[in-house]
Amino acid sequence: MPRVELPTREALAEAAERLRRGGIVAFPTETVYGLGADTFNEEAIQRVYATKGRPFNNPLIAHVRDAAQAQRLVATWDRRCEILAQRFWPGPLTLVVAKASGVPAAATAGYPTIAVRCPAHQVARELLAAFGGPLSAPSANRSGRISPTQAQHVASDFAACEDLLILDGGPCEVGIESTVVDLSGEKPRILRPGSVSREAIEIALGERVAGDIMHDTQHASPGTAASHYAPQTPAELVSRDDLPARLAESTKTCIVLARGSFVASPPHHVLIMPTEPDDYAHALYATLRAADALGVSRMLIERVPEGDERWAAVRDRLRRATHG
Ligand code: TXA
Ligand code: MG
Repeated sequence: MPRVELPTREALAEAAERLRRGGIVAFPTETVYGLGADTFNEEAIQRVYATKGRPFNNPLIAHVRDAAQAQRLVATWDRRCEILAQRFWPGPLTLVVAKASGVPAAATAGYPTIAVRCPAHQVARELLAAFGGPLSAPSANRSGRISPTQAQHVASDFAACEDLLILDGGPCEVGIESTVVDLSGEKPRILRPGSVSREAIEIALGERVAGDIMHDTQHASPGTAASHYAPQTPAELVSRDDLPARLAESTKTCIVLARGSFVASPPHHVLIMPTEPDDYAHALYATLRAADALGVSRMLIERVPEGDERWAAVRDRLRRATHG
């Protein structure tokens, strides 16, 4: 098993030293846990891809301590970058911009752009400070699996990695991955919805921001493949009205993820989800993992409101979790 450590001063120093030697370290952020490596060490970055089983064409987010550190990774830090960093950093917003020439190709999977984000989690910030440079980190799950929101999730995904150090910062507050906004084109565009809403970005920038990348495959971010974030149990979205009939007709045991109270007769199971979008997002991945662990044949997830922007990020993750 990997080694899970509380973020003591000693553990942080050891983590920073491992990173300096080209190692990888799992650490908490306010969104999900990340699997970090030195942005400027190509071998370390290859190790992240190999450990995750991540396709080499899917670029990583560089985590920075502040906007000044981000500026050294990008070709130009324009007005939009400045406004968004001022307004939302540290926090769950990732900016995609043209990369600086000194950034190794491995750090961006060969892309001419780089994704940068300044995380708000205290442990991530302390690790960045102790290391002293940017850390490229995807979510710390095996590729295609559910993102980890607790140290134990990371440990179970990488159970075979004896040497992996995981800093345990408790459950992640936000619970789903950061909003990714592409600022490299003429118009800003959301590549991945998250808890920083499109509306909030539009208000900050004072201009329209294109969104809903799922319906625009031409511009899709490489990591937004439809079947991402999938639980192992076959899952589908069902409206609340249809749930009773679906359960009654099912010959197999189902688990229902209901929003608010719901009763199902045995052998079916129910997990009650929060009714507000932020609380729902916070609980989602841990619940999907718990539902998977029950080993039932089918997962029925109650639909969340369509058209309501506040649910955009959760809707996106549920769409992917139930794809196929
Ligand atoms: O909240 C988060 O963003 C977490 C924590 C650890 O910070 N990280 C995370 O990383 O979710 P990952 O690798 O699982 O997702 C990064 C997303 C992918 O969809 C990837 O394709 C996209 O960002 N991305 C990264 N660099 C990009 C680039 N240069 N252009 C377009 N998309 C990019
Ligand atoms: Mg991921």
